[in-house]
Amino acid sequence: MIQKAKGTYDVFGEYGKRLLYVEELIEGLMEKYNYEYFRTPIFESSNLFHRGVGETTDIVTKETYDFKDRGDRDLTLRPEGTASIVRSFIENKMYGNHTIPVKAWYYGPMFRYERPQSGRFREFYQFGVEVFGSEDPLADAEVISIPVNLYKLLGLKGIKVNINTLGDSESREMYRNALIKYFEPYINDLCEDCKERFNKNPLRILDCKVDTNKDIMKNAPKTIDYLNENSKRHFEMVKKYLDSMHIEYSVNTNLVRGLDYYTHTVFEVEASVEGFGSQNVLCGGGRYDNLVETLDGPKTNGVGFAMGVERLMTALDYENVSMPLINGIDCYIIPMSENEKDYAAHLCMELRLNGFITDIDYNNRNLKNNFKMADRLNSKFVIIIGEEEKNTNIITIKNNETKEEYKIKDEDLIDFLDENIGE
Ligand code: HAM
Repeated sequence: MIQKAKGTYDVFGEYGKRLLYVEELIEGLMEKYNYEYFRTPIFESSNLFHRGVGETTDIVTKETYDFKDRGDRDLTLRPEGTASIVRSFIENKMYGNHTIPVKAWYYGPMFRYERPQSGRFREFYQFGVEVFGSEDPLADAEVISIPVNLYKLLGLKGIKVNINTLGDSESREMYRNALIKYFEPYINDLCEDCKERFNKNPLRILDCKVDTNKDIMKNAPKTIDYLNENSKRHFEMVKKYLDSMHIEYSVNTNLVRGLDYYTHTVFEVEASVEGFGSQNVLCGGGRYDNLVETLDGPKTNGVGFAMGVERLMTALDYENVSMPLINGIDCYIIPMSENEKDYAAHLCMELRLNGFITDIDYNNRNLKNNFKMADRLNSKFVIIIGEEEKNTNIITIKNNETKEEYKIKDEDLIDFLDENIGE
């Protein structure tokens, strides 16, 4: 038997219904926020992610799915959405011919060759947004408000918003130097990855999962102490806007995030319920004012976030969040024999096109098994089509709950159902 690839999963049944509900909610929310839907290719030139996400990140050094196509091109399955959306922004010259700010949202599969565990997959879905062309801290606050409001709409309660700032390029540089000075004497106490990070990107040492509880990490310099006036002001304003939107947050000075492109605000939302598991970061993001330029576009501010959809689904299950899902169908049609199937199929089509959830037996079950099937499908009505019904166009329809039976003309069927099936 061929099995699914490691780190992937199938969607069906109740999970599928809950997922579709969440997807619909996301779409509706993005409409209210006036964001534009973007869809970019699942594979891109490998270069895009090397330069976009950062050469020193775990994602690029260890986790990308790289391949050569038959034309010998180097391609990569996207590990995240931001670099692709930035590529699209530049390639489609949106900086010149689109309404600024460009506010993009996206939803789709991402691929990372990570060690699979609960909440961590090799193919996973992200919902994310990217805003281009505003340096205003209100844009940062708006972006942070999106996942918070989605969780609120869904009824998810146990969440915690952590924010921090890395400052602008100047502040980041000062902070980088301070970290190098601080970690130099301890270099041999760090894990192998961190030794490498020390040379390439010392900020990422703070993001280490191995050394995280060591005292040298806890006592490391804080970004907040190396901010210039501009960066301080930006962060203060982000907090002010969050306060005015009644969004609760904590400032976590060790939050640096695992991707290289951030400047100023970074944030993560975690599931803060006891026992949720180690992969509890539901979403993360921040500002990236240099990324568009790094990828050969004009200097353009950017800010965004992405959320792991699987982790969201797990959190919803974990908190037993109920959803108003459709449970059952409106009509189940039973043709009594081969001869009535054409007429039954015609009726079935009419009902579906008029908005009724309808199913029909095409497995030639006997009447008894068909009634069992109607119960299993939780059908409100059962329509039986025999020879007489087909010849006279008068339908026998049974309320499957009260067991009352009605005879009505087929042309009156839609009106009958409209009256008898409430919203
Ligand atoms: P990220 O932190 O790498 O950021 O991923 C965002 C979210 O995707 C994580 O918080 C997590 O919920 C989910 N996620 C990541 N890896 C996995 C995995 N292997 N399995 C399941 N879920 C996963 C980014 O991707 C940035 N592009 C976010 C961003 C957008 N920053 C600015 N704009």
